[in-house]
Amino acid sequence: MADLTTRYLGLTLPNPILVASSRLTSTLAGVKRCEESGAGAVVLKSLFEEQITADASSMMEGADYSIHADAFDFFANSSKDYFIDTYLDLVEKAKKSVQIPVIASLNCVSAGSWLDYAHRFEEVGADALEINAYIIPSVASKTALEIEQEYDLLFKEIRKRVSIPIAFKMGQNFSGLAHRMRSFDEMGADGLVLFNRFYRTDINIEDESTVPGKVVSSPEEYATSLQWTGLMSGELDCDICANTGVHDGETVIKMLLAGASSVGICSALIKEGHGVIGNMRDTLESWMDRKGYASIADFKGKLCQERSNEPEIWERSQYIKAVCGIS
Ligand SMILES: Cc1cc2nc3c(=O)[nH]c(=O)nc-3n(C[C@H](O)[C@H](O)[C@H](O)COP(=O)(O)O)c2cc1C
Repeated sequence: MADLTTRYLGLTLPNPILVASSRLTSTLAGVKRCEESGAGAVVLKSLFEEQITADASSMMEGADYSIHADAFDFFANSSKDYFIDTYLDLVEKAKKSVQIPVIASLNCVSAGSWLDYAHRFEEVGADALEINAYIIPSVASKTALEIEQEYDLLFKEIRKRVSIPIAFKMGQNFSGLAHRMRSFDEMGADGLVLFNRFYRTDINIEDESTVPGKVVSSPEEYATSLQWTGLMSGELDCDICANTGVHDGETVIKMLLAGASSVGICSALIKEGHGVIGNMRDTLESWMDRKGYASIADFKGKLCQERSNEPEIWERSQYIKAVCGIS
C-alpha cells in the first residue's frame, strides 16, 4: 500500500492534505475533527494583527460583521489580552490533543507592534507559523517597490523573532511574482502557500448595495496555483503548499506532480463536509498503487517546469500555440 507521508516545513505529515486556516480550525473540537477525518495537518484560524494591536471593541463599533468573513469568528469579544490568550490556549491544547502538526496563523498588514508577540506562538508549542500578510495595493500614491519593501521588512522582522518554520501565505498580484517568491525563499521562508484567496466585494442590483462576494472557491480556481507551483517548485528551496480550488483527489495529485509538498483545503470541506478528506486520500492512494508509486517522493515535482520534457508548456509559448492553433 502506498505511503502518503510527506515533508512540509521540515515537518512530517501523515499525508499531504492539510486543513487551511478557517473557522473549521478555530476550536479544539474543530481541530480534533480534522485529525479524525484524516487530515495531514491543520492551520489554525488566523489571529488578526488588529486583535493584538487595537482595542477591538472600539475598532469594530458599528461594523457589519457579515462583510468580514475571515474576521467574524474572533470579533465577538473585546480585549486584546482575551484574543491573544484565547489563541495561545487553543494552540497549546491542540498540540496536546492531536498527533498531526499544528500550524498557528497570523493575519497581518504591517510590521507593527504585534511582532512583539510573535515568539509566544512557539512558546506554546506551535509546530510552525503561517503568515497571511496582505499589504493593500489600492493606495495609488504607493509604488510597487514601496509595497515590496514593506513585505521584505515584515518578513525579516518575523524571521528574526521566530525560530519555528514559517510559511508565507501570499497573493498572486505581484508584477514580478517569481522574483517575489524567490525573495521570501532567500529571506528564510520554509514554505510558500500559493495562493491566498482574497475577500471579494459584490453588488446587489436590487437594493443597490455592496455585499460580500462568494466566500468559498470553485474547483476551477485551482489553475493559478497549479501553474505557479509547476513554474516555481523546481527553482525554490522552500516548500510549496498549493491552496485555493483544491476540491478533489485528482487535483491533489496534480499539485503534487507540479511540485507541491502539501495542499491546503477549506471550501471543499465547507461544501461537502469532512468526508472529503478521506475521499481525497483514497483517490491519491489508489492512483499511487495503480501507477506503482510507493511514496510521494517518487513522483513529487515530476512535471514541474525544471524536470518537464516540455518546459514551455507552463509558459506563454504553449499558450500562443493553443490560442493560435499552431501545433
Ligand atoms: C470562511 C472562511 C474563513 C477563512 N479564514 C481565514 C483566516 O482566518 N486566515 C487565513 O489565512 N485564511 C482564511 N481563509 C482562507 C482559506 O484558508 C483558504 O486559503 C481559501 O479559502 C482558499 O482555499 P479553498 O479554495 O480550499 O477554500 C478563510 C476562508 C473561508 C472560506
